Amino acid sequence: MHLFLVLNLSEESTLVVSKIKNGTVIDHIPAGKALDILAVLGINGKEGYRIAILMNVESKKLGKKDIIKIEGRTLSVDELNIISLVAPRATINIVEDFAVIAKHRVEVPNYIEGVLRCPNPTCVTNKRAEPIRTRFRTISKDPIRLQCEYCGTMVIWDEIPKLIARKR
Ligand code: CTP
Ligand code: ZN
Repeated sequence: MHLFLVLNLSEESTLVVSKIKNGTVIDHIPAGKALDILAVLGINGKEGYRIAILMNVESKKLGKKDIIKIEGRTLSVDELNIISLVAPRATINIVEDFAVIAKHRVEVPNYIEGVLRCPNPTCVTNKRAEPIRTRFRTISKDPIRLQCEYCGTMVIWDEIPKLIARKR
């Protein structure tokens, strides 16, 4: 009876999501960060791609992790690297005809354009009339530290999630 209960529990803790045929799997995302990844990629679900978002699933390396599977969409190198702002250790798997044909690590870009808001309310990029596209220079990659090219304001890693511009 006891054994049956244990088996049953472990079975229920497994979440099965099917493999994709063609597209991109973003793996090893810190638990709870999947929606931030979609936001930095500018994906809101209305594009029509089939997307599976797995959150807080078991991982050997991370304890818990998130995974995003995007069917029918391959990401550019720029898009891949922007993921590093949220998930520096993410693995990008390119899937073709059900097989993983390439695996990439993300790298923090030297410049980040149009993805984050500047935290300084008086920065020109926050002017309501004729807003300017934001541009940050990477000062340090580990830990991530960025500097606004317009006003010099520094942004540290912890601040990034709340600076992701969600409406693009
Ligand atoms: N995957 C998928 N559809 C496929 C192939 C793979 O959704 N047709 C997913 C797997 O479920 C996994 C990820 O892509 O989440 C990476 O697949 P794979 O390289 O086979 O897994 P691992 O060897 O466990 O990856 P790693 O070594 O990067 O941890
Ligand atoms: Zn600024």
